[in-house]
Amino acid sequence: MAQVKYDFSGKSVLVVGGTTGIGRATVLAFARAGANLFVAGLGAEHGRSLGAEVKDIGRDFEFREVNVRDGKAMKRLHEEAFERFGRIDVAFNNAGVSGKTAPVHELEDADYDLLMEVNLKGIFYGLKHQIPHMIAKGGGAVVNTSSLFGVMGFATTAVYCASKWGVIGLTNSVALEVARKNIRVNAIAPGSVMTPLIRDMFGGEQAARDTVLPMIPMGRISDPAEIAQLVLFLSSDAASFITGQAIVIDGGGFVAGADQL
Ligand SMILES: NC(=O)c1ccc[n+]([C@@H]2O[C@H](COP(=O)([O-])OP(=O)(O)OC[C@H]3O[C@@H](n4cnc5c(N)ncnc54)[C@H](O)[C@@H]3O)[C@@H](O)[C@H]2O)c1
Repeated sequence: MAQVKYDFSGKSVLVVGGTTGIGRATVLAFARAGANLFVAGLGAEHGRSLGAEVKDIGRDFEFREVNVRDGKAMKRLHEEAFERFGRIDVAFNNAGVSGKTAPVHELEDADYDLLMEVNLKGIFYGLKHQIPHMIAKGGGAVVNTSSLFGVMGFATTAVYCASKWGVIGLTNSVALEVARKNIRVNAIAPGSVMTPLIRDMFGGEQAARDTVLPMIPMGRISDPAEIAQLVLFLSSDAASFITGQAIVIDGGGFVAGADQL
């Protein structure tokens, strides 16, 4: 895959939800572009192996296993990240779960709470701590992970969709709150990316392919490294006039619309 060269030398990047999938690929892309990384997520073993990879590239790395549903732990995470690097230039709020795939009338309160607390409240906690820090430091860039399902509906993933639509609402509004403070806040809205999450959502890799491939005009599922490139672009000075946007990255699925379903 073609890789654009970004330069994040001397920058510090916080990735929340960085242990696997899109987050992990993004951590590695930032490291290759020169950034030091503070990473949070679930899975201490993933954190350790990612740390070894980042250190091999020659960058600083810290990992904390943090549940984004836990407000106190999120506060501590940010305090530690600010203390460790002095300044966080870029934050990527990416933690998410697929939750239970079923019609809304088959969902329980706990199914709803899991999706909204990880996918939406987790990003609220991130923004709540990142924004004052970036204001105090004179600027920064934030990227939040929404989804193609944050701009459309999809039967059997109603609450996942609601959480991801919410991410765009947060992104748009916070972008306006800090538009004159040298802080840009954007979202990514990926279509199908081959990660543990999409396998969970559709019950395995083959089932995921069978469900989503007919909806993708480009005829393939994307690789996490392709999504990472968009995150680096939005975090970089190349995107200096882009804020409050949710960029769809989906091989053409959204513009093809319902005709493809
Ligand atoms: N894979 C896709 O097709 C796709 C499409 C659109 C959007 N997304 C979004 O991309 C993001 C990353 O997902 P992925 O596909 O890479 O899957 P993934 O399962 O590989 O990654 C999810 C990440 O979130 C972290 N996470 C999950 N629950 C957490 C919690 N309670 N506390 C802290 N961290 C938690 C995991 O540790 C992991 O680092 C998610 O927000 C997902 O909704 C994925």
